[in-house]
Amino acid sequence: MSSDSVEEWQEQLDVEKLVRRIRDTVSELRAGEFWQQWKNQLLVSTSPSRPSDSIKTEGQQEKDTEATVRQQLECVCYGLGSFSSCVSARYQLAMLLLLLDAGHIPLKDCALYDPAFTVAEKDILRELGLTVLTQNEEGKRLATKPTLFYLMHCGKALYNNLLWQNWNPHCLSLVTIIGNCFSGIRERTIERELKRDYSYISRAVDLCEERLLPCPSRLVDVFSDTAIITFPSDRLNKLPSSTWTDSPEPQYQHCSDLEIILKQTPVLDSPETGLS
Ligand SMILES: C[S@@+](CC[C@H](N)C(=O)[O-])C[C@H]1O[C@@H](n2cnc3c(N)ncnc32)[C@H](O)[C@@H]1O
Repeated sequence: MSSDSVEEWQEQLDVEKLVRRIRDTVSELRAGEFWQQWKNQLLVSTSPSRPSDSIKTEGQQEKDTEATVRQQLECVCYGLGSFSSCVSARYQLAMLLLLLDAGHIPLKDCALYDPAFTVAEKDILRELGLTVLTQNEEGKRLATKPTLFYLMHCGKALYNNLLWQNWNPHCLSLVTIIGNCFSGIRERTIERELKRDYSYISRAVDLCEERLLPCPSRLVDVFSDTAIITFPSDRLNKLPSSTWTDSPEPQYQHCSDLEIILKQTPVLDSPETGLS
C-alpha cells in the first residue's frame, strides 16, 4: 500500500471513530434525566400557543396548532467549536442532534458555521446530513421563518449581531435562541460597556423570556449558563415604536477583545500596488 493510501485509510478510520463517538454521546445524553427537561423546554418554547402569550380564543388556538404543523422550524448553529478535538463541542453537537430530532427539524435544515471547523469536521457534518455554511455571517442571519439559533458559549458580538439583524417585533418573534443566558451576560459585564458595545443584548434582556436549562455538575463546562430565550409577541407588541427605530448596525470600535472572528473584507486593488 502506498503512503498516500495508508493516510487516506487512516483518515477514514478516524472519521468513522469520531462519528461513532458522536453517536455514543447522543445515546449518553438521551439517557440522562436532564435531556427530558431540555426537550420539554424546547417544545414549550417553540409552540405558538406558549403560556406567556396572551389568552387566546379556542379558534385562535386551533389556528396556532395548524400553524405549528405547517411552519417548520429551521436551525442555525454558530460557534460550535472544533468537535474532533474539544469534548465540550462534541457534547454540544450531540445535544444539537437530539434537539433537531425532538423539534422535527430535518437535518438539512440545520446550517452550521464556525471558522474553527477543520476540513474533516465539515465533511463529518455533511455526512451526518447537516448543512455547512461557507460564508461567515458574523451572526447576522435574518429570521424569515421560525428559527432555532444554537449558540453555545459564544462571543457576545454574535448574539448582539443576531439581535440587531432581527430588531423588529415580527422577526424577533420568530427567533428562539439556545445559548448563554442574557441576564447572566448582564450580571458579568460592566453596565456602561454592555450598553455601549452590546446595546441589543442590553435592551433584549428586558423584553425576552429566558428559561434556564438544567446542567448536571459533570457537564458544567459544556452546558453551564445556558437558557432557551424567546421573544413573546404579546410583550413585543406592547412596546412603543421608538424601541425599534434607533437601531444602528453594531460597530464594536471600542472592543479590544471582540471574541468573534469577523468576515474578511476583500483587499481592493489600488494603483499603488500596481494591480489593476
Ligand atoms: C468560546 S468558543 C465556544 C466553543 C464551544 N461552543 C464551547 O463551548 O467550547 C467560541 C466559538 O465561536 C467561534 N466563532 C468565532 N467567530 C465566529 C463567527 N463569526 N461565526 C461563528 N462562529 C464563530 C469560534 O471559532 C469558537 O469556536
